[in-house]
Amino acid sequence: MNDLLLKKYEDFRSRNINIDITRGKPEASQLDLSNDLLNIEIDHIAENNVDIRNYGEPLGLIEARRFGSELLDAPVENIITGEQSSLLLSYQTILAHYLFGKSTPWKDIKNPKFICPVPGFDRHFQIFEDFKIEMIPLPLVEEGLDLKALGDILETHENVMGIICVPRHSNPSGEVYSDANIKQMFDITKKYSEEFLILFDNAYLFHDFLPTKAQTPVWKLAEESGSTHQVVVATSFSKVTFGGGGLTFMAADAENLELIKRIRTSMVICPDKVNQIRHLKFIASKDAVLAHMQKHAALVRPKFELVYEKLDSIGDIFGSYTKPTGGYFITYKTKKPIANKVNQLCKEMGVLLTPASAIFPYGHNPDDNLMRIAPTFITINELKIAMDVFLIAVQMAHND
Ligand SMILES: Cc1ncc(COP(=O)(O)O)c(C=O)c1O
Repeated sequence: MNDLLLKKYEDFRSRNINIDITRGKPEASQLDLSNDLLNIEIDHIAENNVDIRNYGEPLGLIEARRFGSELLDAPVENIITGEQSSLLLSYQTILAHYLFGKSTPWKDIKNPKFICPVPGFDRHFQIFEDFKIEMIPLPLVEEGLDLKALGDILETHENVMGIICVPRHSNPSGEVYSDANIKQMFDITKKYSEEFLILFDNAYLFHDFLPTKAQTPVWKLAEESGSTHQVVVATSFSKVTFGGGGLTFMAADAENLELIKRIRTSMVICPDKVNQIRHLKFIASKDAVLAHMQKHAALVRPKFELVYEKLDSIGDIFGSYTKPTGGYFITYKTKKPIANKVNQLCKEMGVLLTPASAIFPYGHNPDDNLMRIAPTFITINELKIAMDVFLIAVQMAHND
């Protein structure tokens, strides 16, 4: 091994660094952007004389649903404005299909399966693990899904119930699906089954920090393709205002909405309408959301640019990376099967990365070549150190 690298490695080891970039969380300065929410004065009577302090309005306040309609470009009657997290709404969607389903509950289907684009989000994989729904990995390409691979999967598997996608700034590799890719996904999956569910987790719908290619709202694309009965779209304000303390929005057709409402009635009764009103006072339109997100962008952009600069500094001898224009993550792809080794070396130098295994279903990337970098939570100075450590680890593992 190169002596200079080894010296740098030993040097970092002796510094007792403790930097954790395992999760894509906002830094406190980003949370401060929404501090006014904490002090907002609200009235307890909402539109149609609804008392927000009481039960009721299981799909959310009408004014909050209108807001969701504007954000997701879907008719207001197709919107749920909920609470807490989009993951919760996604989980409820899967649970509703599992317990009740459309023609058949998934629990009564032999070996149900779900397609998971890779690399992907570990908390999505956890949902399917919970239900023992078999996950089938599907590679992502620049335009979105690898459609040939999608066709092959559907040709060779029975009981594929659906797919979960992050269509804008995919976690962790940042793809923004093209309209054509999404429409072809609708066509291919509709031929397989009219009940095939496409769950769009649009977690990064408003989270551009650099100019991003145009994308038609997915609900609009579903309308154009006659596919709204297959589509459920979720998003949240977890990374707009406060993690777990924002609003959530979901668009679904009447039948899916009824299914989700049924499950929600058993567990939620009604969403937190106080927080809905508070948010509506704080940020009442899509334009206001986009303006607010520019403030987030100003804080996160320099961090991403720093990572790009650092990764460029070692060229493409050891690997390559995606250059997202939004979202919270960057994926680094090594030329050799060394991702786990890189993680281990980083840990030895005091920098914790997301485990390389976490971005694949069942923790299994047969090529062991992809890693997630989550630059937002730490300060720019910490990020500089983390990236220096990362680059040493990549080069050491590669040369080993
Ligand atoms: C794709 C994706 N979905 C959902 C979430 C979590 O959002 P929420 O808090 O709304 O569940 C994240 C956060 O990292 C994410 O990357």
